[in-house]
Order: sequence, then C-alpha cells, then structure tokens
Amino acid sequence: MPLFTVNKDKCPGDGKCAAVCPVRIIKIDEATRLPAVIEGKEELCINCGHCVAICPKGALSLTSMPVDSCEPLKPGWRLGPEAVEQFIKGRRSIRTYKDTPVPRQTLEKLIDIARYAPSGINRQPVYWAIIDDKDKVRRLAELTVEWMRTLIKEGSELAASLRFENIVKAWEKGNDRVLRGAPATIIAYGLKDDPMAPQACTIALTYLELAALPFGLGTCWAGYAHMAINMYPDAQKFIGLSKRTSSFGAMMVGYPKFEYCRIPMRNKPHIKEVA
Ligand SMILES: Cc1cc2nc3c(=O)[nH]c(=O)nc-3n(C[C@H](O)[C@H](O)[C@H](O)COP(=O)(O)O)c2cc1C
Repeated sequence: MPLFTVNKDKCPGDGKCAAVCPVRIIKIDEATRLPAVIEGKEELCINCGHCVAICPKGALSLTSMPVDSCEPLKPGWRLGPEAVEQFIKGRRSIRTYKDTPVPRQTLEKLIDIARYAPSGINRQPVYWAIIDDKDKVRRLAELTVEWMRTLIKEGSELAASLRFENIVKAWEKGNDRVLRGAPATIIAYGLKDDPMAPQACTIALTYLELAALPFGLGTCWAGYAHMAINMYPDAQKFIGLSKRTSSFGAMMVGYPKFEYCRIPMRNKPHIKEVA
C-alpha cells in the first residue's frame, strides 16, 4: 500500500507538501515534478495530514487520510485579533452552575473539537471519560472528600498546604467545593509511561475549555478530583481507570448561573531577554 497517492491532473507541482512535511520524507521528483516519498522513509510518517491539508488543489491523499475525508476550511474562518483577545480573556473558571444537565451530544462535541489539539509527534495520546450523571459527579466529589479526610488524619503535608480541612468542612455543611455542583465532569487520561500524554491532555482540556464557551457552557479545572483519581484507589476504581493509566486533568462542565461583566487583572508577564 503506498503512503500516499497524487492526482497528476490536479497536482500544481508547487512543492508545498514537501516543504510542510514535519519529517521531511517527501521529495519532488525531478522528472515528473510530482511529490514522491523518499525511498525507505515511509515509516517516519506521523500521519499529521499536513501534506493533504496544504494542497490548494486537493491533489494528494494519504492512504490513511483521503483528501475527500478532510473537511475544507471555510473562507473567513480566522477570527479578528480583538475578538480572540476578548474571547480568551473573557473565559472564567465557573464555580456556580445551573441545575440544567448538559446534553451528552454537546459534551461529545466538545471532545470532538478538543481532539484537534496539538500532541507531540501527533501521537494523540488523550483518552476521555465523561461523567454526566449528577449523582455520579457528586459521588466523585464525595470520594475526593473521603480521600482528603484520610490525608488529614495522616498529617499529610499536601493536605495542610492545600488546606483540605476547609474543603472537608464546607462539604459537611453541604457546600461542594470539589466539583461545585457541576452537572458534568470530563477527565482526560493517558498511559502513565507515555511521555507525551500529560502535556497532550492538558492542552486538549484547554482547547475543550475554550470550545465550551460558544455553547453557553462554563468550565473549571477540577484539581482536587483529579488528584483523588490518581491517589485514591476508590476514586480510581470509580472512574474505571486501569493501573497503567493516569488522569492528567479533570474539568467541571455546566451552564453558568451568572455572567461576568469585566476582565479581572492578572500579573504582568515576566519576559526575559535572551542575549
Ligand atoms: C490545574 C488547575 C487546577 C485547578 N483546580 C481547581 C479546583 O479544584 N477548584 C477550583 O475551584 N478551581 C480550580 N482551578 C481554577 C483556578 O483557581 C483558576 O484558573 C484561577 O483562579 C484563575 O481564574 P480564571 O480561570 O477565572 O482566570 C484550577 C486551575 C488549574 C489550572
């Protein structure tokens, strides 16, 4: 099976496919002016699809990625700088949610968008878990509180430094400061021994967080629940993660009860000049 095929009648012979290939395995054949794989280099392909996506004539198809299966970008897809700045700066961590459930289809749509996040060597090592049953979200919060109690009892430094006793006290008074009463939680997990997985999961969840905004949804990183999933066997079992995998991030998802009106201030960036 060839790595890719080229429609000779469509190929503009501009060499863009060769230029953008991250592993430089495409050459332009001098005689035919058509792209060809450099002999013996096929297995270096990372299946990123850049060679398919860059061709203005749709002339190249990877065997694994036919050009007709790659959606054309719509004209005008780029947003203006001001809109993007407002969009990114306007996102807030949401800690007060309406009771309205989030349709499963919407949660899956967010994951469908987030899977386009970059990943090292295009490994796409992110796996997902969705909890969209309010009782199950609450159970995960409860397990997290249970874990916090055990750490407090053991006199753990982590419990002291993250002030777990405040979270536990709030829980006992009926306030969920773990998952904030969100109707859904999404977990991004991966193989423990995959060095690309932690970053890829973090980036994918960041994409998901931004992708949620146009759906009228709000999100918040669920740091406590994420830690409990990795450190408390009962929580790990509840999510159903195998011993070979780790959670690399968890996120509350729901419809915000309130709307923010301003952008809060943040620290000035520390930018170092490199001599
Ligand atoms: C890795 C990570 C874990 C977090 N965990 C929690 C959490 O468990 N509970 C919570 O209320 N907020 C959590 N946050 C949200 C931060 O507190 C929040 O991003 C920060 O206060 C800035 O607010 P903003 O996101 O609205 O700009 C977490 C954020 C990150 C990046």
